[in-house]
Amino acid sequence: MTLLEQEWRQLTQAATVAEGPLFCREIHFLSTVDSTNEEVRRRAEQQAPHGSVYVAEQQTRGKGRLGRSWFSAPGAGLYFSLLLYPEKIHSAPSSFTLLAGLAVCRAIRALTNCPAMIKWPNDIVIGPKKICGILAERSLTPLGQAFIALGIGINVNAGVFPDELQKKCSSLFLETGRKQNRAALFLQTLSYLDKLYSQPEAPIADYAALCVTLGREICYSRENQILLGKAIQILPNGELLVLRSDGREEVVSSGEVSVQGIY
Ligand code: BTN
Repeated sequence: MTLLEQEWRQLTQAATVAEGPLFCREIHFLSTVDSTNEEVRRRAEQQAPHGSVYVAEQQTRGKGRLGRSWFSAPGAGLYFSLLLYPEKIHSAPSSFTLLAGLAVCRAIRALTNCPAMIKWPNDIVIGPKKICGILAERSLTPLGQAFIALGIGINVNAGVFPDELQKKCSSLFLETGRKQNRAALFLQTLSYLDKLYSQPEAPIADYAALCVTLGREICYSRENQILLGKAIQILPNGELLVLRSDGREEVVSSGEVSVQGIY
């Protein structure tokens, strides 16, 4: 049994919570895996159920956005992915990223009192540093059924980061000075996510209230050009509306967006 599973059982008195939220009904605790998003892909091919969750103590090839890797210190973070077979209403990966970002941000705030914010589209930051990243990947099973691997990586108890990440990243331990209970954060995040997922409307106003990008000058890329603008609105599907420096409005749906003052 992994350490996280032991903590989880102490907290919930059960391997899974039978009457609990959808995302707690089937949780697979893994000690080492290449990437929990890859695990979701393999399980989707075997028709694993909607809402199943795969959480690992360690990832050997944790994936980040834009082809980057995700630093996954053994036992120090939460690295998990949900398997979702989307209904039409929630079908774009950006909508899943939005729900996950809001759920993680709320869970961190509830458990640590840290002023966590969302950096559009998929990072959770505390002050200028990144605490969590989210990677939603959409694919098809061999039978042609669409699924989403919604991957969440949270830096919980890491004390040090590799040199290249030191300036950009932090953990809840470094921010609070206290080791945090990973199982409690996991449960809280899943519970918030479950509630958000069952709502018919995207929680745009709630997301916007916690989004550090809105109202700020940003730098983003389009067709190999670097553009400047002001982030003015989150659209219902999770895209970002930007007022460009030339006065035109533009919708940004993905890619790298940097906000002045944040890593
Ligand atoms: C990013 O910020 O670039 C996204 C990082 C997403 C990391 C998580 S950790 C769990 C899941 N499995 C992966 O391989 N990646 C995601």
